Amino acid sequence: MERYPNLFKPIRIGNMEIPNRIVHEPTDISSSNADGSVSERDIYHHREVAKGGFGLIIVGATTPDAKTGRPTVTGLVADGDNFIPGLARLAEAMHQYGAKCAVQLMHPGRQCAIPRHNIMSTNDTVFTLPWSAGHEIVYENAEEKGKEVRAMTTEEVLDMVDLFAEAAWRIQQAGFDAVQLHAAHGYLISGFMSPFINRRNDRFGGSFENRMRFPLAIVAQIQQKCGRDFPVLIRYSADEWVPGGREIEESKQVAQVFEEAGVAALDLSMCVQESPGAGFDPMQYPEGWTMYASEAVKEVVSVPGINSHTLRDPDYCEQVLAEGKTDMVGLARQILADPYWPVKARLGKPEKIRKCISCRTGCWQESLMAKKEIACAINPACGDMRFADMEKTNHPLRVAIVGGGPAGMEAARIATVRGHQPTVFEKTEELGGAILGCCMVPDKDKMRWYADWLRYEIRDLGVEVKLGHAPGVEELKAYDIVLNATGASSYVPQVHGLADRVIPFEEVIACPKVNCEFYPAGVDRKNRKVGERVLVWGDHYAATDTVAFLAAIGKDVTIVTEQREFGATVEVIHMYVLRKRFSQTDAEALHSKPYKYPVKVLTDSTLYEIGEGEVVIQDKEFNRVTAEVHDIVTCHTRPNQELFREMREAGLNVVNVGDALRPRNLNAAVKEGALFGLSLDDYLLFNPNNAVLNDLPLDVKGQLSV
Ligand SMILES: Cc1cc2nc3c(=O)[nH]c(=O)nc-3n(C[C@H](O)[C@H](O)[C@H](O)COP(=O)(O)O)c2cc1C
Ligand code: SF4
Repeated sequence: MERYPNLFKPIRIGNMEIPNRIVHEPTDISSSNADGSVSERDIYHHREVAKGGFGLIIVGATTPDAKTGRPTVTGLVADGDNFIPGLARLAEAMHQYGAKCAVQLMHPGRQCAIPRHNIMSTNDTVFTLPWSAGHEIVYENAEEKGKEVRAMTTEEVLDMVDLFAEAAWRIQQAGFDAVQLHAAHGYLISGFMSPFINRRNDRFGGSFENRMRFPLAIVAQIQQKCGRDFPVLIRYSADEWVPGGREIEESKQVAQVFEEAGVAALDLSMCVQESPGAGFDPMQYPEGWTMYASEAVKEVVSVPGINSHTLRDPDYCEQVLAEGKTDMVGLARQILADPYWPVKARLGKPEKIRKCISCRTGCWQESLMAKKEIACAINPACGDMRFADMEKTNHPLRVAIVGGGPAGMEAARIATVRGHQPTVFEKTEELGGAILGCCMVPDKDKMRWYADWLRYEIRDLGVEVKLGHAPGVEELKAYDIVLNATGASSYVPQVHGLADRVIPFEEVIACPKVNCEFYPAGVDRKNRKVGERVLVWGDHYAATDTVAFLAAIGKDVTIVTEQREFGATVEVIHMYVLRKRFSQTDAEALHSKPYKYPVKVLTDSTLYEIGEGEVVIQDKEFNRVTAEVHDIVTCHTRPNQELFREMREAGLNVVNVGDALRPRNLNAAVKEGALFGLSLDDYLLFNPNNAVLNDLPLDVKGQLSV
């Protein structure tokens, strides 16, 4: 009997027969050409998604008017007929693999990345959304910088209705099966519908009826332009999660009004961007937390419903479909992490799915927030066509990989798939590296999903692994090439007094391994216990994780960081949620229950002196205060480069990656490890910058290999 009968049951949306219940939720991959036309990367990405077997693929935010609003700097545009040929190629690439496809039309309004001035919105206001792709600040989570926007005139509103309808017509001409309107997350249509955002006093603001006028006018105009049988889907936020915002009761009313207007399917999402936790689910958010919304809406309408957010596991998705909680399941980031999700489930290999861990470091922090094209921290092939063309080698190399963290394991995985012969050396008794610290941090168990996925891959591929083994230069000389993936370690910065009292954070969040199949029986490891009052000194992920753990077990924690803002290099949505939790502010969809005590944060400060049971903290004005603490934990980290330097001096072929290069995040470690695996070829050449060359023109390769 088929394991997932409900997932693979066809369904009708309007006149579309969709082969299964799995929807690719719209995801702006910000990979179009600079003018907004479809790029080769767009085609590559969506073709892989279609190969994966999604029944319905909704292409991400596509603007009907680039001049007044693009949500990301290289988001798709459909405001001229010149965009039709590219869109047609995109539709064809997906149809080839049996998917139905739609484009999501979206005007970002106040949340635009382009333009920067004279920005259209529902009303005049100044606001700050430092976690939004449309915000000016990159990599600085400062909230103080405001963005001015202005109210659209009535004429502009009416013109916008036409622009949406014209764009929908182009989508139809290009061969798409449907169009979706983005009415969620605080973008333009959402802004009009939201009682929280919309402060207009004309016929487009105020009452429920007035707030619904703009979206309903767009639906009617599309129906007129494209015909009533061209399905129009709508995505809106069932709960806005802000005081005064829409809640589920009004959302039921919204559903009824849209159904009456002939909308073909309702795709439920969450939040406006003032409540980013709810819309951008960080790692702490559990699978299925939004299911209550489609259950409620299904009580009042019969039009098909799609539910989404943190759906990862095919068994869970099958269950919610079987229980009738939703008609279709929508996946977004999961597809960036593994576009082959449906086919792996269909062929009975769900354990091979690389489940998205909701870290957001690839798809948000390093991509859309940094104004770049899409990436995924755990899937190096996301948006990178080089991995699609991966080839087997004709000349296997003996590769030593020192360090069994994510960079090392990913390098070993790709190298092995390509036919090379890596050996992974790991000085501890277990593969996993820095990820394993996350086992102790409340609600970071998704990190284990990835550690386990990699460890199973390493096992299934038969990679040689030497645990409890730190090789020296002599041993490594036997290999053709060495990868230094030894990561980073904590250290104690210069300080007066008893520096040896400082505890490395690695010892505090070390997992004691009650039961773990990857940890050898009989090897006993304990984490270091600390006193009641703890000072955590440092920043970045080491500090946020350590603090989250200590606070959750009831310690009285103070953070001292030299930075202007704590955690500014941590992914922004996670930072938002942590800040709320540390300050015990209950202003996000999931509240701060795991944290028993508030966490004190001292920025622009450092430790000046450590005494017996107390420390002296100094701020940037050189003011000093004495505080009573039982233990001090350092979270200052630096790369492990000693072995790398020794190998260079001994003349070995060696490459340095991940945190061993510079402490950053998972996205950097995995990508660099994977690119190393990809760069290995039948010959070994390094350029003067010590980078491996594998893609030289044949004649140059010949010249240099002689
Ligand atoms: C990189 C990125 C781009 C996104 N682009 C869109 C978009 O264009 N339209 C939209 O409705 N939602 C967009 N979202 C939100 C997702 O569709 C989805 O609602 C959210 O990521 C939570 O679901 P998930 O856990 O399945 O990813 C985007 C999310 C990410 C991470
Ligand atoms: S970067 Fe992280 S959150 Fe984004 S898709 Fe990849 S695993 Fe998921």
